[in-house]
Order: sequence, then structure tokens, then C-alpha cells
Amino acid sequence: MSNIRIFSSRNLLGKKCGFLDSISKWSKISNQYISSAAAPKLDRLSKGRTKTGILMLNMGGPQTTDKVHDYLTRIMTDRDMIQLPIQGTLGPYIARRRTPEVQKKYSEIGGGSPILKWTNIQGELLCKKLDELSPETGPHKSDNIEQVIVFSQYPQYSCATTGSSFNAIFDFYSKRKTPTKMKWSVIDRWSTHPLLAKTFAHRIKEKLGEFPENVQHDVIILFSAHSLPLKAVNRGDTYPSEVGATVHAVMQELSFSYPYSLVWQSKVGPLPWLGPFTDDAIKGYVKQGKKHFILVPIAFVNEHIETLHEMDIEYCHDLGKELGVDIRRAAAPNDHPLFIDALADIVLKHLNKGNPIGHKFLTRCPHCSNSRCHLTKSWFKRLCAV
Ligand code: FES
Repeated sequence: MSNIRIFSSRNLLGKKCGFLDSISKWSKISNQYISSAAAPKLDRLSKGRTKTGILMLNMGGPQTTDKVHDYLTRIMTDRDMIQLPIQGTLGPYIARRRTPEVQKKYSEIGGGSPILKWTNIQGELLCKKLDELSPETGPHKSDNIEQVIVFSQYPQYSCATTGSSFNAIFDFYSKRKTPTKMKWSVIDRWSTHPLLAKTFAHRIKEKLGEFPENVQHDVIILFSAHSLPLKAVNRGDTYPSEVGATVHAVMQELSFSYPYSLVWQSKVGPLPWLGPFTDDAIKGYVKQGKKHFILVPIAFVNEHIETLHEMDIEYCHDLGKELGVDIRRAAAPNDHPLFIDALADIVLKHLNKGNPIGHKFLTRCPHCSNSRCHLTKSWFKRLCAV
């Protein structure tokens, strides 16, 4: 039993350990509530002996192929993630149409998404590390916690991912009462954490070592992140700049010793998205005579369909074969010890800083027109008592 909970706006990932069986059970356990309309101010973060729970937010994924349809329906009807005309009708229609194709992809990577598995492992290891480093905020294996840290597992903030998860928490509590016995705080972004950069640098070096020594310095490192519609970029979503910041930090770790580029993948639909796209970039470099590539999943901390299918099967295998070049993929951070150290360090620094919520989180995109963002941020501001 531990305090780590995992929650996603796309999919309630399921329980990890004993913190709570679900957000609703959490409400029942605490017995005292804050009204979502009028949350009273709470004291700042407790650094003394205070049982601390961590609510890990991450992308959901279907555990089995028969859950793919529900999963796609949730995505296609989530207006934070995707905006469609007549979304209530068109979203479920697209979900139905895409289900067989997406089911096939999941069956080719073992029958389901590994995101929950990896997030559970990361949560367990984080608990152990925090028990060692911060006994005063433990035990990290009990219920009845006194403060909760909502910890986004997306290192780079996007309104479509982290923002959507926070909106989902607000939605949940707007229909219920919020527990008052716990102090709340938020970790919403950590794109340049030094141990995150070191983790990616290690993953890249592991992969570079697989290339013959005489080509290692010609290998092009392609940092590949999930793309965004240009409409979202032009609203002022900070994701592209935060992903760029991570890339820069990783290359600094590698002393800028290799050629590299930031590219974008997983575009869907006909509207313009942020590029260059990963497959086009590989083709462009091949035209320039390059033959060796490492793909780095820079915006996600564990394996998922886009690493295991899109990168490994569609790019490394199929595209590599078609172009006659060597494309390999660095592992996601997963359970790398440096990455677990990064998670623990982020939590501890957050506790020591004593600032429950960041100013950036509380500020909307300059062209945000989503009223839910305003409601969510105002609610979290009251809840965290900034
Ligand atoms: Fe970015 Fe609303 S879309 S804050």
C-alpha cells in the first residue's frame, strides 16, 4: 500500500496502491469536504511530519483491445484534446471508424497499452525513494494522508494533456465536495530538470553504443514528440517551447557532440499540425546522404503505442527497410534509476520550496477561449491557497 495514485483525463488508469481506490473513494475516506464553489484558504505546504500522497497524472491507454473503442470515444469527445464540429456526434463516429485499425496496432504490441504498468512501477519506486530521502513526509505507504501533491507525469505542459487532466479533476469535484483535511499542491511542468536530461542522455548513449564505432558521430539524434494542431500552437500552448527546452538540456548533457533535430509525430486529421514530421525528416536527411538515426521519445516518460508501434514498427522497421537505412530507438525513461531520482528530487524540491502552485499554471494561454480552463485554474488557485 502506498500513496501514489494515477489518474488520467483520457482514462482512469486504475489503482496503484492503497492511497485510495478511486477519486470518489478518496472523497469518502477523508470525510470532510471543500465546496468547489467556495474553497477556503489553506496553509502553505507542510514540510514537517506530514503524511504526503502523490496523485500521478498520466495519459491513459486501453489495457486490452476490447477497451479501444471506449478509449477512442473518450479522446474524440474531449474538447481539451481535440475540437471537432458537432463533437457529440462526430467524435463517437470517428471513434467507431478508427477502432479496428487501432485495435490491430494494440494487438501488434502485445494486446494493450503498457502505460499503466510503467506508471505503477514508477510510482512504487518513487515511494521507496521518498521513504529513504524524506521520512518526515512519510510513511509513503498509508491512507489518511494530510497533504496531496498533484504531479503531472508529462514533463512538458500542454493544455491538451496536463491541462486536460486538471480540467478533468475540476469536473470531477464540481459534481462533488472536495476533501478539506488535505493540503493540495501542484507540480505541472519540469521540462528542464537536470536528472531528466541526464536520463535521456543515458538512454541515447545506450543506443549509440549499439552502432559501429566508426559511425557513432554521424548518427543523427531525432528527438520526436507528439505533434499539436497549429491552431493550439497559435493559441499560445507552451508545449513546443518546453519540449525544445528539454532537447537543449539533453544536448547540453551530451556536450552537443552529435547532430540532432526536434521533429514531431502522430498527426491526425486533415488540419495543419506542427512539423517537421518525423518520417518526413528521416526522408529529408536520407536525401542528404545520412544513414544512421536514433529516435528519442522526448515528451513521454514511459513506453506507449507511439513508441512501440509508430516508432519501432512504422519508422525503425518499415521505413528503415524502405529507405535502406539504420533507424533505432532510445528507450523511454521507464524505470531508469536516474529517472526515479528525478521524480523524487522534483517532489522534494517542491516540498522545500513551499509554493503550492506556479504562476504559469494559473495563467491561461493568451488566446485561450476555453471557459473550463478559467474555471479549473481559479478552483485550483483557491484550493492551493495561493
Ligand atoms: Fe491553454 Fe485554455 S487553451 S489555457
